[in-house]
This record gives sequence, structure tokens and C-alpha cells, in this order.
Amino acid sequence: MRCITVEPGTANSVQLDTFKIPTPDRGAVLIRAVRLGICGTDREIISGAYGAPPPGHKRLILGHESLGRIEDAPSDAGFAKGDLVVGIVRHPDPVPCANCAAGEWDMCRNGQYTEHGIKSLDGYGCEYYRLDPQFVVRLDQSLGTLGVLVEPTSVVAKAWEHVEWIGRRAKWKPRCVLVTGAGPVGLLAALLGVQRGLDVHVLDRVTDGPKPNLVRDLGATYHAGSLDALRDDFDIVIECTGAASLVFEVVEHTAPDAIVCLAGVSAPGASRSIDVGEINRKVVLGDRVLFGSVNANRRHYEAAIRALAAADHGWLDRLITRRVPLDGWRDAFAAKPDDVKTVIEFE
Ligand code: BGC
Repeated sequence: MRCITVEPGTANSVQLDTFKIPTPDRGAVLIRAVRLGICGTDREIISGAYGAPPPGHKRLILGHESLGRIEDAPSDAGFAKGDLVVGIVRHPDPVPCANCAAGEWDMCRNGQYTEHGIKSLDGYGCEYYRLDPQFVVRLDQSLGTLGVLVEPTSVVAKAWEHVEWIGRRAKWKPRCVLVTGAGPVGLLAALLGVQRGLDVHVLDRVTDGPKPNLVRDLGATYHAGSLDALRDDFDIVIECTGAASLVFEVVEHTAPDAIVCLAGVSAPGASRSIDVGEINRKVVLGDRVLFGSVNANRRHYEAAIRALAAADHGWLDRLITRRVPLDGWRDAFAAKPDDVKTVIEFE
């Protein structure tokens, strides 16, 4: 089978390799790849800045945004041959910590978790992979190949769940949401905000390409340019860019009791001078909360599937701006100006 592999820590080491189909000791469920979504994390791993191979190996099979079909599964696992499924990215640490022991590996406390295609576990960028049934999520089959959006949606489903949990500390009726960044994560965060009946605003830099219309067709408001021009009373901010110029500045645009979720990962070394005193005053005197959110557990994959099934499938399909056959895999990893989500097609 063909696999996209990379040597983590070595820039531009990505290549197509041929390996044997994995044996049942790698997991009782055999899955045949249908699609693989590409994201910024994959590009960061290719650049040599992130990622780790499985112990004892130099290379890692890349890819964590999966969509596959059941090829073979134990009869009591609840899957039928041909079912569309998604593989969970993170596995609990071996200790396990209190959260991993409870299936909340997205909140791992000791950092020894592993992640398919990212950290110490081979990924889904290959024609076949095997998983234990507990790490396989069956789709609402009506989603079809849009199921490739489940993993990035699971990440924002977690972010929204935590915003709502934090919100329960007070009698809080949020109305207005700011999402920064109109990439796939930002657009999916905006979708979940609209589904909650909120007034959603999305800020990005571009003025053309598919993003402004995708935001408008969602029923949200698109803003291009500077944060300064935006209102100062957002109740919720989902920051999806990791841009140094936004992560703390967004606080200046929030109402008392606001909740700011930082969901974008910045590169280390992004420095900027900010008035810490002013931001601290604003946070403390207004009971504001800033928190980080990453990854997702099974509950969030299931919430993601429900959210995507309820969304306009035509709109979801427009998020997938490039479909590249496996033969052209290299091109899929080159970011192009009008890209929202690029997928590699295996079928
Ligand atoms: C993935 C997450 C993962 C994170 C950090 C993201 O791209 O979607 O599942 O936890 O990278 O490795």
C-alpha cells in the first residue's frame, strides 16, 4: 500500500513509500482510506518544526484528518463492511493520567499522549490502516465524503463545549461572537456559532476568494482588515489564527463576562509589545476568561458529526476547495491562495 511519510525534524523529507498492509496486531478494525484532509499541522511537520515518529522508527506516516471505509471488523464492534468512519487522532497516555483514564485524552495532564500522524503514532495518509474499535467513529452515513471534515469540526466542537461550560458560572446570555481567521477551523467554529443562534462575525485578511461568500452564506458577517474597526462588546471570541497581533488584542473587543477561546497555535518566538497592565485590568475587572483548547475526545467527534449532519451540505462541500488524487499528493501540501480545505482522494 502507498503511504505518505515524513522524517519529523527534517525539513522537506516527505515522500511516498510502499509498505505492507498492517497486520491485526495493529488493531482489530481494518479501514481503507477514502479521503485525507490537509491542515497547517501537516505543513508544520513537513517543515521539520513539529511531530515525532513512532518509537524506534525514523519516519512517520503523515495525516490525521481521516475518512475511510470499514474493510474488516470484529462482528461485535458495531461496524458493517463499507461503513464510512473516522479515526480518532489522540490516544491516551500509558500511565494513564486522570483525564486519559476517563476517556478525556484531549485534556491529558502529563503530555505523554500520542497522536496519529503527529506524535509517535502512524497517521492516516496511507491506503489502509488499523485501529482498535474504541478509536473508530461511525459517521452519519448521509455525510458521505464530507465526513473528512469531522476531525477539524471535533476540535471546534470541544472549544464550543468548553465555552458553554465556562459560561455556566454566571447568568450569561451571549449574543455576539467573533471568530478570527476564516480558514477551515474558523469557518467551522462560525458554523457552530450560527447553529447556536448567535450573531457571528468572522475576521480575516482577504477581500476576495471563497472566504467572504462562505461567511455570508452561513448567515454570518465577514470583516476584512483590522481588528480595530470591530465593535468592542463581543461575548465570545474563538481565536483561530494564532497571530501575535490578535491573541491578546481581541480582549479589547469583548464585553464584561466574555469568554475568549484561543484555538490557533502560534510559532514560538512571535513577540510583540502589549500593555499587560491594561489587558489584566480588562480581564480582572470584567470577569473575562481566556483559555486554550486543542484536540478532541470521542464526545466531540460525535458532536461534530451531529453538527455537520445538520448543516447545509452544499456549503460544507464548498469548504473543500481542492481535491487532489493520491498520485498528485505532493501538490496537496503546497498552500495556494484560494485554498480553504484541501483533501487527498484515495478512492
Ligand atoms: C489536530 C489536533 C492535535 C493538534 C496538536 C491539530 O492539527 O487537529 O487533533 O491535537 O493538531 O497536535
